[in-house]
Amino acid sequence: MITALRGMKDIIDDASEYEYILNAAIACAKLYGFNLIDAPILEETALFRRSAGESSDIVGKEMYEFVDKGGASVCLRPEGTAGVVRAFIEKKLDRTSGVHRFFYHGSMFRYERPQKGRLRQFHQFGVESFGEKSVYEDAAIILLARDIFDALDIRYELQINSLGCVNCMPKYKEKLNAFLNAQNNLCDDCERRTKTNPIRTLDCKNDTCRKIYENAPLIANFLCDECKSDFAALQDILTFSGVMFSHNKRLARGLDYYNKTAFEFISGEIGSQDAIAGGGRYDKLVMHLGGKPTYAVGFALGVERMYDLINPPRREREGVYIGAIDSEAIRDIFAYAQVLRKRVKTFVEYEPKKLAAHLKNADRMNAKLCAVIGDEERADGAIWIKDLLAGKESRPNLNEWLTRDFRSA
Ligand code: HAM
Repeated sequence: MITALRGMKDIIDDASEYEYILNAAIACAKLYGFNLIDAPILEETALFRRSAGESSDIVGKEMYEFVDKGGASVCLRPEGTAGVVRAFIEKKLDRTSGVHRFFYHGSMFRYERPQKGRLRQFHQFGVESFGEKSVYEDAAIILLARDIFDALDIRYELQINSLGCVNCMPKYKEKLNAFLNAQNNLCDDCERRTKTNPIRTLDCKNDTCRKIYENAPLIANFLCDECKSDFAALQDILTFSGVMFSHNKRLARGLDYYNKTAFEFISGEIGSQDAIAGGGRYDKLVMHLGGKPTYAVGFALGVERMYDLINPPRREREGVYIGAIDSEAIRDIFAYAQVLRKRVKTFVEYEPKKLAAHLKNADRMNAKLCAVIGDEERADGAIWIKDLLAGKESRPNLNEWLTRDFRSA
């Protein structure tokens, strides 16, 4: 038997959870003025190397990268931001004024070691906002994520940090580098990060490294005046908006493109892979990928990580099931279904069956109405109906019934 690849899952048992999360996220994003963007899943490998950064685990270890039949090096997207930025620049939106806000959802691919909450193909819902310098936009993006979690009744802890900017980050990196170079017990990942992006060392999960970093210099003590005042303003807006958060001074995020605001939503109820959403500001990325300098901020949430945290409402009985007792009536009920489908969800049974079998089928399909045509109904121009919710039977005139208002069915 051919099975799905390791770390890849069908959305089948979790389909209602998936739809429930996505619908809530889309509804919230639209209320904040975000519009759909759907970038390709496959992009040039260089796009991810340049955006996520060579030092990130995503690029260093996890890319689904291959050479296509034309000899191009391509990669299944490990995250959504890079493709959206590429599309933004390609559409020349960086040359227009105003703010552009997008939301997206779909599969992302990372060749990680699969475990609970960590898949190789997973689904993100994300938003990206371009062209807004104000820290109010960072706050709005965090509030949007908060609204999605509230809509889904998910409890979370919000951690924020400021990663500084081109003015203050280099000075901090110098200090941090000096500190890291004086250590000799770092894990392999941190040795690599020390050379590529030292800030990423600080949120290492390795116990020895964590102990060492207790004494490491922190960006919070090196922020320039602008970063300091933006970060203070962000905290003020969040507090004023009733959002609980903590300042995690070691929060660095797994991708290299962030500056200033970085944040993560953590759940205490799903085990070690506890980040349910993450994001921040990335004001340099558009320029770095060849566009005009453009302010940008966004976040993405991991759909699968939220499955265990939600209770989708039970699906109520819905729609009409229609069947016939004799084979001569099958063509008729097939035609009636076309009429019904203009207004109501309709299941048709193509095989003639006894009434009891139809009732069983309708129940299995969670239909509200079971409609059956037998000999007598055909002779009388009638149809036999059982409302499976109310438990009531009736035998209305067929033509009248077909033109009924089915809004409650
Ligand atoms: P990220 O933190 O790498 O950020 O991923 C966002 C979310 O995707 C995580 O918080 C987590 O819930 C989920 N996730 C990540 N990896 C996996 C995995 N292997 N299996 C299941 N879920 C996973 C980004 O991707 C950025 N593009 C977010 C962003 C948008 N920043 C600015 N704009």
